Amino acid sequence: MSNPNHPPAVGVLEQGPELIFPPGFLWGAATAAYQIEGAATEGGRTPSIWDTFSHTEGRVVNGHTGDVACDHYHRMPDDVRMMADLGLRSYRFSVAWPRVQPGGSGPANAEGLDFYRRLVDELLNHGIEPWLTLYHWDLPQPLEDAGGWPARDTAGRFADYAQLVADALGDRVTYWTTLNEPWCSAFLGYGSGAHAPGRSDGADAVRAGHHLMLGHGLAVQALRASRPSAQLGVTVNLYPVTPASDDPADADAARRIDGLANRFFLDPLLRGSYPADLVADLKQVTDFGHVQDGDLTTIATPMDLVGINYYSRHVVAAPVEGAQQEPYWRAPSCWPGSQDVRFVTRGVPVTDMNWEIDAPGLVETLRRVHEEYTDLPLYVTENGSAFVDEVVDGKVDDADRLAYFDAHLRAAHEAITAGVPLRGYFAWSLMDNFEWAWGYTKRFGMVWIDYDTQIRIPKSSARWYAEVIRRNGLAGQ
Ligand code: FCB
Repeated sequence: MSNPNHPPAVGVLEQGPELIFPPGFLWGAATAAYQIEGAATEGGRTPSIWDTFSHTEGRVVNGHTGDVACDHYHRMPDDVRMMADLGLRSYRFSVAWPRVQPGGSGPANAEGLDFYRRLVDELLNHGIEPWLTLYHWDLPQPLEDAGGWPARDTAGRFADYAQLVADALGDRVTYWTTLNEPWCSAFLGYGSGAHAPGRSDGADAVRAGHHLMLGHGLAVQALRASRPSAQLGVTVNLYPVTPASDDPADADAARRIDGLANRFFLDPLLRGSYPADLVADLKQVTDFGHVQDGDLTTIATPMDLVGINYYSRHVVAAPVEGAQQEPYWRAPSCWPGSQDVRFVTRGVPVTDMNWEIDAPGLVETLRRVHEEYTDLPLYVTENGSAFVDEVVDGKVDDADRLAYFDAHLRAAHEAITAGVPLRGYFAWSLMDNFEWAWGYTKRFGMVWIDYDTQIRIPKSSARWYAEVIRRNGLAGQ
């Protein structure tokens, strides 16, 4: 019953009718290497930028590191059995570059590749489709020392690494995504410095974004040449960006943030060009002199699918007039050139990350990519929420997370009904894990991890998701 004094919060859709997804819809869950594997110095693995960053005082909450994480490296067969118990049809994982090519160049490390070979075989034996991400943020430290993603050469190194993984796993992996969320690698890694390698320079962030996409294009070409039947794509994190009011100044702030968050990546990858207004917005930051002839054609190398990670919406307002503005180089920001735009909160329910819950934003995002950019099949490669969980009598009843998934799956179904070729959905995350700068203080998992004992407890949301997968949809209420 709706109460006029308490209208439903934005995005918390009330549970509705039974919704069945198209046949063959790919139901999965996702993780990333550094967040779960541990075994940071085993099997020939050498440090990535995240090892260096997490071991640097003050970078990660409580000084947490991924040294042990969920110990997945040692518990992999049990973890795959757990996935099978939950009925997962697909599992999205990432390969740790410093595990399979320790210094970031040169020959493969057979022991590292072997871990992923065993993982893939284990998945296939359980009827679970492997979905491989090549880069989920763990750049080998020597490549950072040589300049990192702001250096052009890193793109070529990435393509070589992609080739090496394709040679080892190409016969048994169909789905490949090159990068996970290049916005985070570029703008949190080199802009605000909140993520590894923790550098803060707007021009470097823009260069990093370009070279990440160049590396993607080169990797797609290498993979295509050696594995013609593979399904290739990239994962971007997208946000609807909404102005806080009708004021044209707020609309302009939204245009700017949309440019940096979404169009910076969508336009080169799917149209082969940078948006003119974005280039103009970044005039004080960079002249785009790092873009060479042919780069944009490489970046727009045809793909087979687009992966979208969706968590929330940005609501923004124009800078406050008269406020003292820092020049961009003195204001570390993940929004170079637009660091004075204000991010507004609407007072709607949020997750433990303080991210507003906004399921309709997923419909908007999927429709936009399909209607404005591409007919390619789309996949939600991540969607999920952190909440404070509690173990009571050996059980974790995560009703908030379950409601979040339910609302977003209803949104995904609405997008399909509106004509979006959405082919699959991956919950973030299979299990609680190392949440980057937040360490282990934020839990996104459908499975609880006790970090002292490494005991795994499927939460209510995991049981519920297993039922969603079994019926290929949502039960009616
Ligand atoms: C995404 C990352 C993923 C996880 C979720 C919460 O940005 O791709 O590794 O941290 O956010």
